[in-house]
Amino acid sequence: MNFKKTILCIGAGYVGGPTMAMIAYKCPQYKVTVVDINPERIALWNSDDLPIYEPGLDEIVKTVRGRNLFFNTDIEKGIKESEIIFVSVNTPTKTYGTGAGMAADLQYWEKTARQIRESAESHKIVVEKSTLPVKTALAMERILTSMNNGIRFDVLSNPEFLAEGSAVKDLEDPDRILIGSRETPDGLKARDELVEIYANWVSGERIITSNIWSSELSKLVSNAFLAQRISSINSISALCEKTDANITEVSRAVGMDSRVGNKFLNAGIGFGGSCFKKDILNLVYICRFQGLDEVADYWEGVVKINDYQKERFILNMLGAMFNTLAGKKICLFGFAFKANTGDTRESPAILIAGRLVEEKADLIITDPQALKNAMIALSDINGQINYVEDPYDAAAGCDAIAVMTEWDMYAGLDFEKIYKSMTKPAFIFDGRNILDHEKLFEIGFNVYPTGKPALTHF
Ligand code: UDX
Ligand code: UDX
Repeated sequence: MNFKKTILCIGAGYVGGPTMAMIAYKCPQYKVTVVDINPERIALWNSDDLPIYEPGLDEIVKTVRGRNLFFNTDIEKGIKESEIIFVSVNTPTKTYGTGAGMAADLQYWEKTARQIRESAESHKIVVEKSTLPVKTALAMERILTSMNNGIRFDVLSNPEFLAEGSAVKDLEDPDRILIGSRETPDGLKARDELVEIYANWVSGERIITSNIWSSELSKLVSNAFLAQRISSINSISALCEKTDANITEVSRAVGMDSRVGNKFLNAGIGFGGSCFKKDILNLVYICRFQGLDEVADYWEGVVKINDYQKERFILNMLGAMFNTLAGKKICLFGFAFKANTGDTRESPAILIAGRLVEEKADLIITDPQALKNAMIALSDINGQINYVEDPYDAAAGCDAIAVMTEWDMYAGLDFEKIYKSMTKPAFIFDGRNILDHEKLFEIGFNVYPTGKPALTHF
């Protein structure tokens, strides 16, 4: 079959896989190939057991795989054959040298740019999908054009705003698509080619364009703003616990101001996920590098409050359970960094589990999707940790339940049955405020919500 365009994506991760599946699904006239250096990951994308869990993704992949969506490891061939190349390799926080713990590690990015330069035999549009420091496109352009072989490369920035757990919905009906380009005739032409792809299913007013640096920076700032809201409400949850105010009531009252809006105001155990912390630290690093220490300090505060919220959760548990957790059995309800995903990257549950083990508690971890990743995330921790799929079995015999992830299923459990099976006094620490606290209290639990007065029988 003759395809109208050939598209390649380098990096078959949480961003590259679903994004390309959606483009292939909405645009049967394009051939979309996803390549990755990791053969196991590619084998999973070609199997019935996809490497990531996302509601609705299996159906889409089943529809388009082999039709106009292909997964393989032949990066060189992919580069040669495609006109548009999305780059979606990971950009983790640097763990070494200058900027360690703060800056983005761009080694995979640069390696990919060099690969494109070496394999390309004709004009390519190279699209930054990964979140990158502002001005990365400049470095990309310099690497790509350094062979002086007459091949033109146009670099665009097209950050992805999908959230895990709702990736399919976010891709299908995005708030906006942002495309940044050079404002030269070639840059604008490349930009229009990318606009044309999204226009297959996204309305024109939601496709916005900007200069390339604004686009790169907008992605970092979007994540920083979202994380800042969570730290803002979490900081107030600490004050609520001291003053008998109720964080749900406060966030409802504040969020009903249409200038503030009601989303992303759920207090909890802090934000996790692969992006928020990494992107804020990256923003902080860039600000410091530019001599803007006050701006850097301001944004760094968002990460500090997030760490404080996790530590506060542990200290609350300790205080409530008579200042010792040694030998007590604690069941973690959920381990994913949020509901509807099996992803545990930067999940607050990792730090909380580590701290509980330090306190010599025995842990039982349950999660409908994330147990495999939880085992990997905790593999370095020496302690008594069991992984149990069924939440009733997991809670049986425990002294306490601590809710880590806001899975819908937890609110629907039979807590009378759970209470009967637990050691008394039985405690529930609701790190996500998803349970019916009054009802749990009536059943007999000592209930510790986040940012609300505790309900105890003592
Ligand atoms: C990644 C970044 O973390 C994020 O900042 C960015 O916005 C999008 O890309 P994600 O898709 O969640 O997000 O990362 P990950 O699931 O780790 O996938 C990256 C993939 O790139 C991996 O499968 C990895 O094997 C692959 N990769 C990495 C390459 O194919 N080539 C490389 O040189 C390095
Ligand atoms: C985020 C951004 O939302 C997305 O636009 C970007 O592309 C990648 O980073 P993601 O990390 O997948 O997406 O999930 P998100 O829904 O933003 O949740 C991040 C964390 O914040 C989770 O741990 C979640 O539980 C927490 N959260 C979210 C809260 O604690 N309270 C809230 O009100 C909302």
